[in-house]
Amino acid sequence: MSGLRISYDLGVLTQEMMAADPVEQFGRWFEYTRNSAILEPNAMVVSTVGLDPQGNARPASRTVLLKDFSDSGFSFYTNLGSAKSSDLVANPNVTLLFPWYELHRQVIISGKAQLVSRTMVEEYFHSRPRESQIGAWSSKQSAILESRQALDSRFAYYEQRFADLELIPVPDFWGGWQVLPHRIEFWQGRESRLHDRLVYVLQEDASWNLERLSP
Ligand SMILES: Cc1cc2nc3c(=O)[nH]c(=O)nc-3n(C[C@H](O)[C@H](O)[C@H](O)COP(=O)(O)O)c2cc1C
Repeated sequence: MSGLRISYDLGVLTQEMMAADPVEQFGRWFEYTRNSAILEPNAMVVSTVGLDPQGNARPASRTVLLKDFSDSGFSFYTNLGSAKSSDLVANPNVTLLFPWYELHRQVIISGKAQLVSRTMVEEYFHSRPRESQIGAWSSKQSAILESRQALDSRFAYYEQRFADLELIPVPDFWGGWQVLPHRIEFWQGRESRLHDRLVYVLQEDASWNLERLSP
């Protein structure tokens, strides 16, 4: 792997360039990413900490799609019985990582997760393609599945069950998580591995402090 090495030289980050508010800064970077060649700009790695059967804390990560962000938080949708949701119920501390390699950038958001309101969940669920809505009904996400065929049969069953319904109900085991950030780090790769890292940390008075970290 020693030959796998590129130079990071696409830009610089200075405190003066950054917005006072990290959500606004995220919005600037997200807009830039969205207009770049990056395939899924809203794909992020969500890390949670759960307990193993012996009661030891264990981190777990997986990719999900960011569906909204604002001052109220960064949200994604998933099965509420999934491993990630069980972790978040027990421990709401979470990080969201956007790996924008092609731009030599990374954003890491740390915060606490809370459930998205049912009104928002309904709205988002019904904006999804009908097949995805039926897919949500069909999958007991993270549970062991005896076969692929069992999943396809469940899909066929729900397709049939909802055939006459224009509006498919939202399963009560499906919903969203909204992450309220308390730390947001912006990373820009630089030459000689002397990268720029600027981190916003939420203060007690609800203001944000911006600091530079060593690479
Ligand atoms: C690009 C990409 C996007 C994904 N988006 C979602 C998503 O928005 N929601 C979701 O529940 N799973 C999504 N997944 C699947 C998750 O990575 C994961 O397999 C699933 O949520 C189960 O995770 P868990 O068992 O840790 O809870 C996505 C996977 C990839 C690769």
